[in-house]
Amino acid sequence: MRIYKAKNYDDMSRKAANIISAQIIMKPDCVLGLATGSTPLGAYRHLVEWYEKGDLDFSEVITVNLDEYKGLTRDNPQSYYYFMNENLFGKVNIDKNRTYLPDGTEPDSNTACQKYNEILKAVGAPDLQLLGLGHNGHIGFNEPGESFSTETHCITLSEQTIKANARFFATEEEVPRQAYTMGIKTIMSANKILLIVSGEAKADIVKEAFFGPITPHVPASILQLHPNVFLVADEAALSKC
Ligand code: GLP
Repeated sequence: MRIYKAKNYDDMSRKAANIISAQIIMKPDCVLGLATGSTPLGAYRHLVEWYEKGDLDFSEVITVNLDEYKGLTRDNPQSYYYFMNENLFGKVNIDKNRTYLPDGTEPDSNTACQKYNEILKAVGAPDLQLLGLGHNGHIGFNEPGESFSTETHCITLSEQTIKANARFFATEEEVPRQAYTMGIKTIMSANKILLIVSGEAKADIVKEAFFGPITPHVPASILQLHPNVFLVADEAALSKC
């Protein structure tokens, strides 16, 4: 794991966007695994800016997102489909037919997960997978305690994740209790992984995940076994390492 220490959130975002843009420039038809949450917002802003300047071309890029809330429609501002359109896809020249997320509107979990697994197999392993880190060490929506060998599956969100994500909803009750997520096995199949972390609130989990034992109780700890991980974190997030 290569660790890049950034000064602050903006520095982390710029460094992450640089790595993503290098991937796109080196392989214009690359498969990018993308993430949601508040952490990648700055990196997405930089990518949009560089696209607007004419430095980046997304026309051949394929994207696969990590996860989606079960039950949210695409026009729901809290859905990850909406998030991706709002923050990246709607602002660059990406072909929407080449962007994929699990279908949160599919009520049957088996169908939704099987369909997404088929898509992931068809597009192939991501050249670069972007990841954020949950406060309890989750990646995508793979919560603590799950097997490391999963593909796309339906997950019941932990109380901690519901509370952490409630800030995006009007009330905590509105946070969906389930989500479809790419599994750890699929995440680990990516050629390169770019993990971004910011803020003191994540300092304990960064230490536990990357400097502690590899255990399903801290899902991100499995990344210690991946040969090509770039951890870009700001000083606050690395303050306990
Ligand atoms: C959600 C997403 C994760 C993300 C995590 C952290 O649970 N499913 O992919 O990494 O939140 O979010 P944030 O970046 O807002 O701290």
